[in-house]
Amino acid sequence: MASIDIPTDLLPLDGRFGSGPSRIRDAQLDALHASGHSLLGTSHRAAPVKNLVAHIQELLADLYALPDGYEVVLGLGGASVFWDTAAAGLIERRSQHVVIGEFSGKFARAASAPWLESPSLIEAPAGTSATNIAEEGVDVYAWPQNETSTGVQLPVTRVAADGLSVVDATSAAGGTQVDATQFDAYYFSPQKNLGSEGGLWVALLSPAAVERAARIAASDRFIPAALSLQGAIENSRKQQTINTPAIATLFLLEQQLQWLSDNGGLAWANARTRESSDLLYAWAESHEHLSPFVGDPADRSQVVTTIDLDERYDAAEINRILRENGVVDINSYRKLGRNQLRVSTFVAIDPDEVRRLIASLDYVFDRL
Ligand SMILES: Cc1ncc(COP(=O)(O)O)c(C=O)c1O
Repeated sequence: MASIDIPTDLLPLDGRFGSGPSRIRDAQLDALHASGHSLLGTSHRAAPVKNLVAHIQELLADLYALPDGYEVVLGLGGASVFWDTAAAGLIERRSQHVVIGEFSGKFARAASAPWLESPSLIEAPAGTSATNIAEEGVDVYAWPQNETSTGVQLPVTRVAADGLSVVDATSAAGGTQVDATQFDAYYFSPQKNLGSEGGLWVALLSPAAVERAARIAASDRFIPAALSLQGAIENSRKQQTINTPAIATLFLLEQQLQWLSDNGGLAWANARTRESSDLLYAWAESHEHLSPFVGDPADRSQVVTTIDLDERYDAAEINRILRENGVVDINSYRKLGRNQLRVSTFVAIDPDEVRRLIASLDYVFDRL
């Protein structure tokens, strides 16, 4: 028995509002089930799975209007492993990182590898933004399009002509507009807007990034085989990955990309996540005990909304009550340590679901 029972007509139809792994649409799961014996349990080096990978590559190239020469590269291990892969095979000597939270900080740590010069850091407090600046000797400029731990969103604008612009799009990809001419590497794991599972990384690479990977691979630097960006590029050209992928992850990703394409692509996704997040920020601003964590409206994420509670409410208790009612994972990022709700507004979430979530939260707040 929940300590507060939220009436069913107020509750979201699907209670998953976490920032990753995130809501996977029922239609994707139905399609996975319907795929029967055709994909799961078959070789990733045979035509059915290779065709699936080819379709993912085509859908992404189309969704992002990738200019000629850009390549869609896949690897295993998620965005975290892409950081190590970039340290091994994309950063030539020195990288520069915007560090505004946990995930941007992790890439900076991965880039502190002994064969590289110490990275240059541009740091800002949690909940605020920062911008890369052109710097002598830097050959990779790194920043997150969306810092999932704080809910800060940054523009994607190329930093300098002579360094690669490398963007962590893990929580932005598929839900936020971007211009592909402004990046050299746009990488992500697919368990957020892209409605799939963890364990895969995808990188959209410009010709300059592809050329850089080839040059470093040909140098005398030791690169572990599983972290070879050049290996990932060569395998992706054959619609494969270096080692065995989770086929269900690929399948769910393909389903979500097709759904995005059928509904109007990134422009549609961007408008939908914007509508959902605007609802939450407006609600937080109008509520006497709530406030958006990110002070500058221009920095507020359209896909991961962070809302501070004042001392009148306890976020842990709100989370517990919501979970008892089937609404899960709206806790703040564990290391941020704030009295905060973090609600994802990824593209799989219909804005009406957000309206229901707000009604449910209001119902609970009124009874505490
Ligand atoms: C912005 C960002 N980058 C990187 C990661 C790490 O992704 P993974 O756990 O798939 O390696 C996450 C995970 O939430 C993230 O939000």
